[in-house]
Amino acid sequence: MSLRAIGIFDSGVGGLTVLKAIRQELPLESLVYLGDTARVPYGTKSPPTVERYALQAAAFLLAQQVKMVVVACNTASSVALPALQRALPVPVVGVIEPGAAGAVETSRSGRIGVIGTEATIASAAYPQAIRALRQDAEVYSAACPLFVPLAEEGWAEHAVARLTAQEYLAPLLQQRVDTLVLGCTHYPLLRRTLEAILPPEVRLVDSARQTALQVRRLLGPQTLAQRGDGSCRFFVTDEPARFVRVGGAFLGEALTEVQRVELQC
Ligand code: SIN
Repeated sequence: MSLRAIGIFDSGVGGLTVLKAIRQELPLESLVYLGDTARVPYGTKSPPTVERYALQAAAFLLAQQVKMVVVACNTASSVALPALQRALPVPVVGVIEPGAAGAVETSRSGRIGVIGTEATIASAAYPQAIRALRQDAEVYSAACPLFVPLAEEGWAEHAVARLTAQEYLAPLLQQRVDTLVLGCTHYPLLRRTLEAILPPEVRLVDSARQTALQVRRLLGPQTLAQRGDGSCRFFVTDEPARFVRVGGAFLGEALTEVQRVELQC
């Protein structure tokens, strides 16, 4: 594949978890990231709306000449992946299948919990993808809509996040799941909060690393020998200040050049 960049989009800051994993896996690849911060969250929107937003975000990335689009948003992956794959002339990678594969690999008992946005949970994309890999898996799902605003607010480790997580996770814990899929790219930001309330035998799976491995497989072995410049360019659809603050803290580096853009409607 060429030295063109890999495009990544999410509704906001959460997809930086996927960018971080891709950068660790493929440090020489150039990356272009779009956070649709003017319209976050996607998880409370209807499937046709999410599909429209996803197609617009992908069109922006294509205009940046990307060679692949990574849908680093579980909501968009669960409702818009087929439309994106039909519409785009480059490979499109979502986060659901990699996350499901990670869950099946991790779970011993086959009792798997999935948390995500309302749209992701309503789509049943995770249970379907998990059962396609392990037929006898028992999948228990819970929508956790408040986690996205908490992560976007920089409150992922706040006491409010802890109380909220206790409420959301109680029904899943009653089902004795041994694995919990963080089915939203924002949720890894709450990892420490979740770990503090989960029993030690419950293992967390986030799709970021699995997605990065999938990207690497698709690019082929040549990619490791390539000498790209490993640059990252960041775009958002609203004022960059909050993205810079929360995203910078999360990535552990200052996001100095974040550009605001308008998506073509
Ligand atoms: C959202 O925009 O609601 C969260 C993104 C995701 O589903 O990963």
